[in-house]
Amino acid sequence: MRTVDLFDDAFVRDPYSAMSALREHTPVHYDDATGLWLVSRYNDVRDVLLDAETFRPDNALTAVTPIPVPALRVLARAGFALPPTLANNGTETHPGLRRLVARFFTVPRVADAVPLVERIAADQLAAVEAELTVTGECDLVPALTRDLPCRVLLTMLGLSDVDLPALKAWSTASLELFWGNPDAERQQELAVAAGEFHRWLAGRVRAAGPAGDDLFSALARHRLPDGSPLGVKEAVGVCYFLLIAGQETTTQLLSTALRRLVARPELWRALPTEAGLAEACVEEVLRREPPVTTWRRVTSRPTRLGGVDLPAGAQLLLMLAGAGSDPEVFDDPERFCPARPNARRHLAFGLGRHLCLGAELARVEAAVVVRAAAERLPDLTLVDDDPPMLNLVSFRAPLRVRVAYESSSDG
Ligand code: HEM
Repeated sequence: MRTVDLFDDAFVRDPYSAMSALREHTPVHYDDATGLWLVSRYNDVRDVLLDAETFRPDNALTAVTPIPVPALRVLARAGFALPPTLANNGTETHPGLRRLVARFFTVPRVADAVPLVERIAADQLAAVEAELTVTGECDLVPALTRDLPCRVLLTMLGLSDVDLPALKAWSTASLELFWGNPDAERQQELAVAAGEFHRWLAGRVRAAGPAGDDLFSALARHRLPDGSPLGVKEAVGVCYFLLIAGQETTTQLLSTALRRLVARPELWRALPTEAGLAEACVEEVLRREPPVTTWRRVTSRPTRLGGVDLPAGAQLLLMLAGAGSDPEVFDDPERFCPARPNARRHLAFGLGRHLCLGAELARVEAAVVVRAAAERLPDLTLVDDDPPMLNLVSFRAPLRVRVAYESSSDG
C-alpha cells in the first residue's frame, strides 16, 4: 500500500484518501521518515487517549524534525527548556497545574467573554467591509481570524498589555520549529524567535508577585504537591504552551470554518437566524477538518494496539483528523452535515486526563465569529479555493481565505 509523506503538499491538500487507506490497511503504521507509528482508527486513538499509564504524553512537545546543534545552542543560550507542565506532563505535578489553568477558562468565564468576542468581531468585520467596498476583495485571515483569538486569550489571562504582533511572530515560529520540517538555516532563525519568547516570558515570570488576577501572578502563588513553589522554568513552560495553544489553534479553526461555510451559501445565509446552527457547523468542522490534526503519545511498556505489537518507547502519532472521518463511527464521513447526531464524538480536543482546557472557549469563539460574519456579510463568496496551507505535522489550516462581497463589488 502507499505510504504517507506527512509533509507533502498533496497530503496537506487532501489528507483524507491517505488516512482512509491507512485506516483500512495498516491502522497502526510505522512511518520510516519520522519514526512515528501512525494510529488512524477512531477506537484505537480513543483507547490510547484513555490509557495514560501505557501511553504517556512525554513526547507531546518534542521537535518532530530533530533540531541540529547550532540551533540547540541558540535555544540553550536563551535558557530554553520545556519541562513537563501541561500537555507533556505525566507526573504528579500535572493535576495542580491543570487546575491553575482551568480556572481562567471555566464555563462562566467563557460566557463572560462573549461580549468581548462580539466587540472585537464587530470591529474587525467593519474593517473587512471597508476593504471589500474599496477593493472588492478581502483576505479574512489577516483581517479577521489571525489576531482575534489572541486578543481574547490575553484579556482572559489578564495580560492585555502584551505586544500582540510580537507574540504572534514568536508563536508561529515555535509551531514551525517543533512541528514543521524546516531546514537547518530556517531552524536557526526559528530558534532565535523561540529563544526571545522564552527570555521575555522568564522576565515576566521573575517579575510577577502573587497578588494579581493574571496568569503570571497565579503561577507565582502556585504550590507543587510537596508544598514548594513552582520553578521559573516550569512557570515559563506553562506560559509558553498556553500562549501558543490558546490562540493559534482557534485562528486555524476560524480560518477553516470560514473557508468551508462561505462556500455553502445556503448554510451561510441561515447562520444568523437558525438557533444552534453556527455551533453545529463549528462541530462539523472540528470533526472533519480539525486544526490539531494529530497529537503524540509514547508507550511506557510493550503493548498491543490495533493488532500490532509495540515496544516500550514507541512514538505514536494519533491521527485525530483520521479518527473524525472513521466510517465505523461517523456515517458518510465526507459529508458536511451539521445535523449529524454524534458530531461531538470527535476527538479534536483529545480525551481523558489531558483533554483540551480551551475546548469551550474555542467552540464559543468560533460560533460567535462565524455567526457575526454571516450576519454582517450575507453575500460573501469565496474567491479562490486553492489557498496556501499551514503544513505542520500537527496543525493544518488555510493561510488565506480570500472573499469578495458581491453586492459591493458588482455595484
Ligand atoms: C480549536 C481549538 C483547539 C483545539 C483543536 C485544541 C486541541 C487540543 C488537543 C488535541 C490537546 C491535547 C489533548 C490530549 O493530549 O488528550 C489540547 C490540549 C490543551 N489545550 Fe487545546 N485546543 C484548542 C484550543 C485551546 C485553547 C483556546 C486553549 C486555552 C485557552 C487550549 C488549551 C489547552 C491546554 C492547556 C491543553 C493541555 C491540557 C492538559 O495537558 O491537561 N486549547 N488541545
